[in-house]
Amino acid sequence: MTSPAQKERIPIASDHAGFEMKQKLEEVLKKMGYDVQDLGTNSEASTDYPDYAHPLAHEISEGDAKRGILLCGTGLGMSYVANRYPHVRAAVVWAPEIAELARKHNDANVLVLPARFLSEPDAEKILKTFLETPFEGGRHERRVEKIERKEDIPDVSDGEIE
Ligand code: RB5
Repeated sequence: MTSPAQKERIPIASDHAGFEMKQKLEEVLKKMGYDVQDLGTNSEASTDYPDYAHPLAHEISEGDAKRGILLCGTGLGMSYVANRYPHVRAAVVWAPEIAELARKHNDANVLVLPARFLSEPDAEKILKTFLETPFEGGRHERRVEKIERKEDIPDVSDGEIE
């Protein structure tokens, strides 16, 4: 029998700053039984992170893939791009505890790693935690739904801010 992990396709992409770590994490993902889809970049030659974040975020936004992985130097540029897409919740994660909470509370569907600030063992731990932690639902479900429903939020201003 095949486990769900063996069937899931996971797109992964980086710019030059995340290239080396991307290659390492691809091996980890393959060992875990995932079907890895490498969306580039393919070397350490300088490149532009949006060129790689857009195609991956588009896949997640359209529901073509359930989860994805992005890497750049700080994680920030990749997250800015990915979070512009509907239904994408891209979390910049620098510790396993953050990965756990990003899944449990925020139902993050894109893991963004700051490759220049993480060791490989830490990145691997974060990746595994991200993939293996389920969304907790409950009160968090309402909050996650509100991310894309601006019109429903209550007025919380105290009237002093113009
Ligand atoms: C590339 O030097 C670097 O700016 C990029 O990887 C990323 O950190 C941008 O957010």
